[in-house]
Amino acid sequence: MAESKPTTTQPATTDYTLPPTKWTTPWPFFAAVLAPVLAAMLVYQLDSFDPAPLPLHELTQPPLAAPRKNGRVLQGAEYVGAGNLLAPEDIAFDTGSGLIYTTCADGWIKRVTVNDSVTDSVVENWVHTGGRPLGLVLGHHGEVIVADAYKGLLRISDVGEVDVLTNEAEGLGFNFTDGVDIADDGTIYFTDASYKYDFHNFMGDILEGKPYGRFLSYDPITKQTTVLARDLYFPNGVAVSPDQDYVVFCETPMRRCRRYYIRGEKKGSIEKFVELPGLPDNIRYAEGHYWIAFSTVIYISI
Ligand SMILES: *[C@@H]1O[C@H](CO)[C@@H](O)[C@H](O)[C@H]1NC(C)=O
Ligand SMILES: *[C@@H]1O[C@H](CO)[C@@H](O)[C@H](O)[C@H]1NC(C)=O
Repeated sequence: MAESKPTTTQPATTDYTLPPTKWTTPWPFFAAVLAPVLAAMLVYQLDSFDPAPLPLHELTQPPLAAPRKNGRVLQGAEYVGAGNLLAPEDIAFDTGSGLIYTTCADGWIKRVTVNDSVTDSVVENWVHTGGRPLGLVLGHHGEVIVADAYKGLLRISDVGEVDVLTNEAEGLGFNFTDGVDIADDGTIYFTDASYKYDFHNFMGDILEGKPYGRFLSYDPITKQTTVLARDLYFPNGVAVSPDQDYVVFCETPMRRCRRYYIRGEKKGSIEKFVELPGLPDNIRYAEGHYWIAFSTVIYISI
């Protein structure tokens, strides 16, 4: 309902407005030339991409020649869980239960039961991390330790409960938790491949060619995370030596693995372990050998 109010009429104000100012700035020139230049300068300042050459002179030998394809390499091999595992990254075999654990690109840690015939193997969705699980190792008490690129270092109990053990060190968050292994004394060794680029943007790290990675340890008793080595080039796979003297970590674009001594006279020092004819990803020790998976062989001559 509208009430009728007496309306008062204001006397018309005298118009004292000055004559319109003549703008001297040529707007079309600003829009066409200056604005893009200013925008480009701003973007350039914000973009922290700052490529550098890899210090390949640190390598002590020319790359070994490796065949690009070895037709015999899969002879006698059988496919386990084929078609049911999306880009499995790492595996661990539990001799007690006979289960194989593997970390998949859809965020699932899958469990595979291999029966007498591998074609009868049963693939089970076990735990979904909500991230991208990469490195995986069996703990000493039935738990599974996982390096999840997005979530950090995880502990998954035997009934599938997920705990984040650590996701930062020295105030710097992990952006790409990658490889993991566990020593006999329970210490967990792992890598953060890059604090600057995450899993989705890993190519930025490779192209920039700067060392944004760290090699770390986690003590499950004190719950302390320690940076053992910094300024690493995309540190990836981790393997504790069978004698527990050192831990090997691989730096993918540097096509090398180095060892970090965890006891003895050399404790705390880093030495060359191996230089490779390809780009190392994961590394595992089994029965007298280190097994290193390459993400690619070298296509460029250096
Ligand atoms: C494989 O083993 C699992 C666990 O023992 C069992 O549940 C399953 O039925 C077996 N599958 C086949 C095809 O034998
Ligand atoms: C983590 O990675 C993302 C994507 O590459 C990036 O935007 C972000 O700044 C990174 N975090 C840090 C601390 O640099």
